[in-house]
Amino acid sequence: MNDTDYDIRDLKLADQGKNRIEWALQEMPVLRELTTRFSKTQPLKGIRMSGCLHITTETANLARTLKAAGAKLVLCASNPLSTQDDVAAALVKHYAIPVYAIRGETTDTYYQHINAALDHQPVITMDDGADLVSEIHKHRTELLPTMMGGTEETTTGVIRLRAMAKDGALRFPVIAVNDAMTKHLFDNRYGTGQSTLDGVIRATNILIAGKTLTIIGYGWCGRGIAMRAKGHGANVIIIEVEPLRALEAAMDGYRVMTLLEAARQSDFIITATGDKHVIDQAHLDVMKDGCVLANSGHFNVEINIPALEAMSISKHRPRPSVDEYTLNDGRKLRLLAEGRLVNLAAAEGHPSAVMDMSFANQVLCAIHLVSQPQKLENQVHNVPAEIDQEVARLKLDAMNIQIDSLTKEQQSYLSSWQEGT
Ligand SMILES: NC(=O)c1ccc[n+]([C@@H]2O[C@H](COP(=O)([O-])OP(=O)(O)OC[C@H]3O[C@@H](n4cnc5c(N)ncnc54)[C@H](O)[C@@H]3O)[C@@H](O)[C@H]2O)c1
Repeated sequence: MNDTDYDIRDLKLADQGKNRIEWALQEMPVLRELTTRFSKTQPLKGIRMSGCLHITTETANLARTLKAAGAKLVLCASNPLSTQDDVAAALVKHYAIPVYAIRGETTDTYYQHINAALDHQPVITMDDGADLVSEIHKHRTELLPTMMGGTEETTTGVIRLRAMAKDGALRFPVIAVNDAMTKHLFDNRYGTGQSTLDGVIRATNILIAGKTLTIIGYGWCGRGIAMRAKGHGANVIIIEVEPLRALEAAMDGYRVMTLLEAARQSDFIITATGDKHVIDQAHLDVMKDGCVLANSGHFNVEINIPALEAMSISKHRPRPSVDEYTLNDGRKLRLLAEGRLVNLAAAEGHPSAVMDMSFANQVLCAIHLVSQPQKLENQVHNVPAEIDQEVARLKLDAMNIQIDSLTKEQQSYLSSWQEGT
């Protein structure tokens, strides 16, 4: 590979990255199975793909599976702060997969890297946040005629894509991998749950037990974070705008109230909504001295950071992922990871075992896109149910869990309406 074919921090980090990628692979039995299967059948042979994903050990293993299936793949980062530089180096040096990603890159470099990945002329995109799809539609329309489709990893990306499809603006089909059951039920809940707490703890090393911890958003991510925070002994408060989800949180045993009320008593506040400025000036105004703020939603807009900056008289960095703001009334507020996904910026992202299922969906959906006799409609498509079932079956096999199946009598009973009391 030429050194113009990649842009990473330091190739010398490659051996450390390789060790960590191999370590993660031990927890990814479904991807291992798909690699064995598809290295023989080569369903992606010669397919040009660009992936805009968090450059982590798990993504490296996804990339290896896609390459083994025959894809010609390049990668760029889906967030300026989530890249693991040793993984990027290992992908280039040990697995010959071009990567354009440097942890801490500026927004300009971030977009240069997205464009470098698009210079590869993909026919399939794999996004986490829809940045490739969005860039192709805005500035790289020359790629549209040859596009076969894309896949999308996260809730926020799916929301953006559905908005494009609704406006008739989407010019190629995209599969919403996030919406597969074997993705969001596990990745968003158990993955974000564990890794968000991991990020907060690594960043601060503050004891969670006995503290008041507020979570904004009781979706799949919020539920997972709440469950894990409760396990750590926190007094958990949930903030929601959806009545059903607020009710569910209340019946799950959490306190539910408005953010204005919670802000006054919280030691930690974590956002997981996919929404903008959910923590706004009015909430910052009443927060308790010392409150820790973190975000686990996709973009760094959930906390109104410009407002926080404007009301501060100074800011310093006591620990690597902590910015302590001193406000003009003397209170201190601590922002983690510059408001970016705390689980990826201050920890290592989701555990491999959960990404195993998300990325198995990615592989099977990419194959689904290229194996259609006719291009799918230019819409956001659900993951086919057979793929979801297949991923669940493979994961259960790998976990050595056997389950029962319906008898003939039960199948007929469950599909009939005649039988009653
Ligand atoms: N950190 C990660 O690694 C990771 C992993 C998966 C998803 N995500 C991201 O996390 C975010 C949430 O994902 P999800 O799957 O939980 O979504 P979801 O749609 O299941 O849940 C989001 C919840 O936030 C609530 N909400 C929206 N605006 C709000 C507001 N102003 N105040 C209170 N509640 C509000 C919604 O009602 C909804 O219940 C998305 O941005 C997604 O892309 C991050």
